Amino acid sequence: MHQSQTEFDDAFDYYETRHDPSLANELRQLRIRPDHRRRKTEEQILAEIAETGALDGGFNTTYQPSRYEAGWLFDSLRGFFEQDFITDVLAMVKGGKEASVYCCRAHPSTGEKLLAAKVYRPRQFRNLRNDKMYREGREILTADGKPVKKTDTRVMRALGKKSAFGVQVSHTSWLMYEYTTMQRLYRWGADVPRPYAAGNNAVLMGYLGDEAQAAPTLSEVDLGPDEPERLFDQVMDNINLMLSHGLIHGDLSAYNLLYWQGRLSIIDWPQVTFAEANSRARFIFDRDVERVCQYFAGQGVRCDAPSLAEEIWLRHIGDRTEEQALEARLMLDRREARNTDDD
Ligand SMILES: Nc1ncnc2c1ncn2[C@@H]1O[C@H](COP(=O)(O)OP(=O)(O)O)[C@@H](O)[C@H]1O
Ligand SMILES: [Mg+2]
Repeated sequence: MHQSQTEFDDAFDYYETRHDPSLANELRQLRIRPDHRRRKTEEQILAEIAETGALDGGFNTTYQPSRYEAGWLFDSLRGFFEQDFITDVLAMVKGGKEASVYCCRAHPSTGEKLLAAKVYRPRQFRNLRNDKMYREGREILTADGKPVKKTDTRVMRALGKKSAFGVQVSHTSWLMYEYTTMQRLYRWGADVPRPYAAGNNAVLMGYLGDEAQAAPTLSEVDLGPDEPERLFDQVMDNINLMLSHGLIHGDLSAYNLLYWQGRLSIIDWPQVTFAEANSRARFIFDRDVERVCQYFAGQGVRCDAPSLAEEIWLRHIGDRTEEQALEARLMLDRREARNTDDD
């Protein structure tokens, strides 16, 4: 299940950008500091780095990254090492178009054996997924997971521009939606990996699987005869729980459901959509339900996506047209603008 290392053609430019001294200050401000962890002094970190021989932007890990991958991998994960979340990178689970996921040895203080680090690919910095539809009704989140204030002119000006800083702001926001959504869902008892930390280019979370293999996606497993019904109910329970809080996954399918020890976990959240704030929410929601049903229908579960989606939507959101949704969103915007003016 673990994938061998891949070449990362564009990593080099990214690494260069990250080390452009003219950007260093701005990027530093976007760094994420999980507030509940002790921060080490610079001397401690240097001493540890000297001890492990992790110099020159490289580090000693069981997993041997390719030359181009090493720089950005270390850069993305160093905060997790420094804050004692992880002690080693064991393997690449999957190298995707937008992110690569690594299996890491957890620091004993976390109480876990393994953790999964989702490291966003450098390409993201210049070429975000076509995410316009999902961004509607979402504020920009900063590295601490809070919305950017409209009065922060430096950040507001950078948005929508193709400058390295502007792209970094959008990138951070995209990643922080993944992290903060998982935090909320985990708190509410949804079936998601437990989120541990976020860095400026990576999210650290509970690992599904063991050292020999990572959990397969639902699309990759052969289910036992009595499993489809039960797993379908599990997914529907989660969809209900999410929508009861106004949240829609936005990219739900058998590819973003991990199967481990007879249970499913829902992963891959950066495009999360807010039912109350996005005028396309109903379309996005119906598509999620449709894709889930498509998979389970193939497994012999009797389900009718349109009527299920309608029923769940009416239960949590009510009878609302797209125009009303848009109006609701404009109201939210106006209220937010008033609040910002009051600051
Ligand atoms: N918590 C996790 N534990 C184990 N494997 C994971 C975990 N999160 C992701 N993966 C693996 O990494 C792959 C990519 O993760 P995902 O969040 O779906 O990113 P994307 O699809 O955007 O590349 C998943 O299909 C899965 O195989
Ligand atoms: Mg995915």
